[in-house]
Amino acid sequence: MSPKAATKSAPRKAARRKLPAPKAVKPVAARKAPRATLRAEPVYVEPTAIRPMATPQPQPIVEPARPERRLVLVFMGPPGVGKGTQAAKLASDLMLPHISTGDLFRDHLKRDTPLGQKAKGFMNSGQLVPDELVIELVMDRIAADDCRGGYILDGFPRTTPQADRLAQALAVRGERVSAVFYFDAPREVIVERISGRRTCRACGAVSHAVYAPTRTQGVCDVCGGESSQRPDDEPEKVRQRLTVYDSSTGPLVPYYQQRGLLREFDAAGAVEDIYQGLKMAVQALA
Ligand code: AP5
Repeated sequence: MSPKAATKSAPRKAARRKLPAPKAVKPVAARKAPRATLRAEPVYVEPTAIRPMATPQPQPIVEPARPERRLVLVFMGPPGVGKGTQAAKLASDLMLPHISTGDLFRDHLKRDTPLGQKAKGFMNSGQLVPDELVIELVMDRIAADDCRGGYILDGFPRTTPQADRLAQALAVRGERVSAVFYFDAPREVIVERISGRRTCRACGAVSHAVYAPTRTQGVCDVCGGESSQRPDDEPEKVRQRLTVYDSSTGPLVPYYQQRGLLREFDAAGAVEDIYQGLKMAVQALA
């Protein structure tokens, strides 16, 4: 053998030596057939006769559905009252998804999706987005995996048809809303909060020019993005949003009161004080 041929074939030989000996595989036809096979004619077998022979088969783990223990919390209140601030704190403590319909829409706006394009005009003029668009968005969101253990809805429902649809979706699973946390404060407090609110364009983090300022003005503490006023937080639009709130969302107060679900909070105080009351209300649900 030429030296060239020897160097070429040596590695191949070595590789061949490393290969494990092939295992004998029975041809398919020779494998043992399972005991229970489908027959053309049904054959009656005494249940007691088959019981000892039944081999437990590994089954996929299906977690028992305990829907009655799932927390479904609704945060409601006029625009700018501070419900989003409280909802975010509670969601983080309870490790539940915080579903803010305003944030979901703003995300669609930012990505310029067809839904965002439809919602934009309504949002920027301080109107509610039509029910059918909101409902579809929320139904999709609450069907997601991360909501299996419960979730916090912030800003939904805002109309009676939205509330009915949520109740219906939960009833299908034998569930209902666990509680509705309703925040209210005098209008002058609300206007002051909303006019000082700054929202990060990149990550949506909320700050306040006076009550919770960012370390550097105009720069988000969380991601370093630009923190500025939301287009719908301009005074004229805020007035419009408050009017819409009174006429469309106001009726949900008696709606949930009648169902014994409403818990009211005076939201005029400091964030931490309100939060202490909120935590107690949540503990009382357990
Ligand atoms: P959305 O984003 O939900 O707006 P909103 O309900 O008007 O509520 P805000 O986000 O303005 O206020 P908030 O109560 O959460 O206050 P926050 O905690 O930020 O909706 C926007 C738009 O989307 C709607 O107008 C509509 O077009 C559309 N939309 C959304 N959901 C819809 C639905 N279900 N149906 C139809 N359309 C829908 O606090 C405000 C400020 O105050 C912050 O700067 C905060 O730092 C500060 N602050 C909070 N608490 C305190 C405190 N205790 N003391 C001092 N400052 C405080």
